[in-house]
Amino acid sequence: MARAVSVLEADGLVALPTETVYGLAARAASESAVARLYAAKGRPAHNPLIVHVASLSDAAAFADIAPALPIADLWPGPLTVVLALTEPARIVPAARAGGPTVAVRIPDSPIFRAVAAAVGPLVAPSANRSGRVSPTTAAAVAAELGDEVGLVVDAGACRVGVESTVVDLTGPPRLLRPGAVTHDALQARLGPVAAGPAAGAAEGPLRSPGLLSSHYAPAAAVRLDVEPAEVHADEAWLAFGAAASAARPERTFRLSLNCDLDEAAHGLYEGLRRLDATGAQTIAVSPIPAVGVGLAIRDRLQRAAAPRPAGGGNEGESADRPTTGQPTQR
Ligand code: TXA
Ligand code: MG
Repeated sequence: MARAVSVLEADGLVALPTETVYGLAARAASESAVARLYAAKGRPAHNPLIVHVASLSDAAAFADIAPALPIADLWPGPLTVVLALTEPARIVPAARAGGPTVAVRIPDSPIFRAVAAAVGPLVAPSANRSGRVSPTTAAAVAAELGDEVGLVVDAGACRVGVESTVVDLTGPPRLLRPGAVTHDALQARLGPVAAGPAAGAAEGPLRSPGLLSSHYAPAAAVRLDVEPAEVHADEAWLAFGAAASAARPERTFRLSLNCDLDEAAHGLYEGLRRLDATGAQTIAVSPIPAVGVGLAIRDRLQRAAAPRPAGGGNEGESADRPTTGQPTQR
């Protein structure tokens, strides 16, 4: 922890564990640290970052936290809330893509919160190159970012496995990205919560890369909602349940034998990484039920399957494209 604090205070980058995925952290008040972070990820400048804090009172120093009070019991946890920014000087413009709002999260990771308490608010996108699969282990961070990161803090595999739920509370509540905190959990506390981009959002500033089509993408093509009997012998297979298929055992990754969605979310990105490493051209994915965290899994898989810009995944160039959710053949 002392090393993480000293690297961050010198405006370096540190990969830190959270309960969702590993984050690449930088000081939110430092222009140079934030610039270094965008460069390391190859992240488009119009895509804002999440500011991570140790406590709600730390967030109150730069954001209007009143709208978040009804859901504060979900923190620390896999939830991000977009709020009005009250002290612009504390969060550099680049971190929020120049906007008047700020995304705030209190992660359920004791080491992350301890570092944030010592250093101040930390921006932390997933510790992968922009548009690629998020890392849920320290080894995956090293494989993604290698030389770009000063220090990786290894706390084992992330418990949840998919990124935090993002809800915008700067107006009528709107779910921008599904996650382990479900739409129902939000509505139980906030009343009605709209889902998806607001009408006309495509023309405005980017609200959330959850809204981008190609994202979370492995190198292989991804074919969704494939029943076991329809899997081809030359495909890799991301399986949900215990059924057999024509895929070779060494190209099969089982998300959950007994169809547990939390277990499936936990293994999702590791499964995509391992199957990608087999060199298979296509990853066939079992149908995942669209309930609870299953909605977050389906959201990430649809982005992994979406058409990609030539030359590799990049969330920036594909921003205008609608999400089709259709299987891709390459
Ligand atoms: O679970 C997580 O949230 C992980 C861990 C590391 O905390 N972080 C993460 O960060 O997923 P990133 O950068 O990959 O995703 C940030 C999301 C994007 O969808 C971004 O557009 C949205 O938050 N976002 C950030 N600031 C925003 C704002 N002011 N308004 C709307 N959306 C915002
Ligand atoms: Mg990300």
